[in-house]
Amino acid sequence: MEIDILPWMSLAVRWLHLIAGIAWIGSSFYFIWLDNSLRPEAGEKEAGVSGGLWAVHGGGFYHKKKFQVAPDNLPDHLHWFKWEAYVTWLSGIGLMILMYYWQANLYLINPMRADLSQFAAISVGVGFLVVGWIIYDIICRLTTKMSSLFSGALWFGFLILSTYILVQVFSDRGAFLHVGAMIGTAMAGNVFFVIIPNQKIVVASMLAGKTPDPQLLVMAKQRSVHNNYMTLPVLLIMVSTHYPTLTGHHLNWLLLALLSLSGVLIRHFFNLRHKDKVVYPVLFAGFGLFIATMIFAAATVPKPAAHTSEVDFSQVEEIMQLHCTACHSANPTHPAFDEPPMGLALDTREQFEQFSSSIYDQVVVGKTMPLGGDTLMSDEERQIIANWIEQQKKQ
Ligand code: HEC
Repeated sequence: MEIDILPWMSLAVRWLHLIAGIAWIGSSFYFIWLDNSLRPEAGEKEAGVSGGLWAVHGGGFYHKKKFQVAPDNLPDHLHWFKWEAYVTWLSGIGLMILMYYWQANLYLINPMRADLSQFAAISVGVGFLVVGWIIYDIICRLTTKMSSLFSGALWFGFLILSTYILVQVFSDRGAFLHVGAMIGTAMAGNVFFVIIPNQKIVVASMLAGKTPDPQLLVMAKQRSVHNNYMTLPVLLIMVSTHYPTLTGHHLNWLLLALLSLSGVLIRHFFNLRHKDKVVYPVLFAGFGLFIATMIFAAATVPKPAAHTSEVDFSQVEEIMQLHCTACHSANPTHPAFDEPPMGLALDTREQFEQFSSSIYDQVVVGKTMPLGGDTLMSDEERQIIANWIEQQKKQ
């Protein structure tokens, strides 16, 4: 018996990443909702209580209160929400290593853009994560007293620039995933380096009977507002790699920025909605931007060259053998695969015809295949595949 350990490890770490991510974003959503839903009258006019909320869930009634700074006496058992964030980040980095660093030649490097060694590619990727955090942290420290919108906009601009650079260097999905990881790193870094430590200092000085430095809470608040608005974009980016229409578009960096902005607007709608404000225009703006991005993406796809000569399947077959069947075959020869990826073998004409629309997306629209791009498939070859598929449709 031989266990193919890599896919199992990848599945386990991905599962953990999802579990922790759901716990983190779930608790974050809950607290934002709670904070926005507190009403002074439900706080029962208790000293130090700024608001309260009654809720019913799962057969019980809950009465929450918020102490503006801290209660006079701290309870023995105080829960800190932090492990959700740390585990999400750690498992995300684990997944990045398993997929994009360990198998950099398949998922990260695109030799048509930059023929990097595995070491160089990993260095660029890790460099973006580290420098990204440093730049973000500097932005926040310089703008603590200004509006969170201003600092958020600066960070957003830096992320767009990074996306633009990354798609020139890496495979599209490798670039997208690094942008997502930069955002995730900023979010987890905020919890680890600012929110939790500042709160600990505040609690300690309260216990010592001193008045805590309000600046610490202002800093934590700025980071927590940013984290709130980063949740929806980061989720979108993490699932975006399954959509070659998006990742493979020649303006993919711009599309990603627009879609992220629509996520920010939708999040903003919910934040206002919890405060009982009727702000449907914000929601429509968010969805509208998503739809506008879709239309913009379709309108800016270059028109395929009109083809005149008939393509014969033997030409297609030759291209498949050159660029695809090392992996997509009942007996792959590529060292990374013992079985055809996703069970997709392209050994016969019937198999090719059966999956032709998916092949069109991966090869012509998104240029995501051949994976790794070692075989340097040319645009002419992609055009032959496109022509043959279109020719078949007309018959
Ligand atoms: C180096 C190995 C490799 C090569 C070469 C390769 N593929 Fe793939 N292909 C994969 C892997 C791995 C996946 C699964 C994608 C993922 O992990 O997201 C895949 C997925 C696909 C899918 C998507 C299946 C689905 O249902 O989503 C299609 C279609 C596809 N390949 C077509 C091709 C074509 C056509 C070629 C040649 C032009 C090609 N591939 C070359 C490894 C390869």
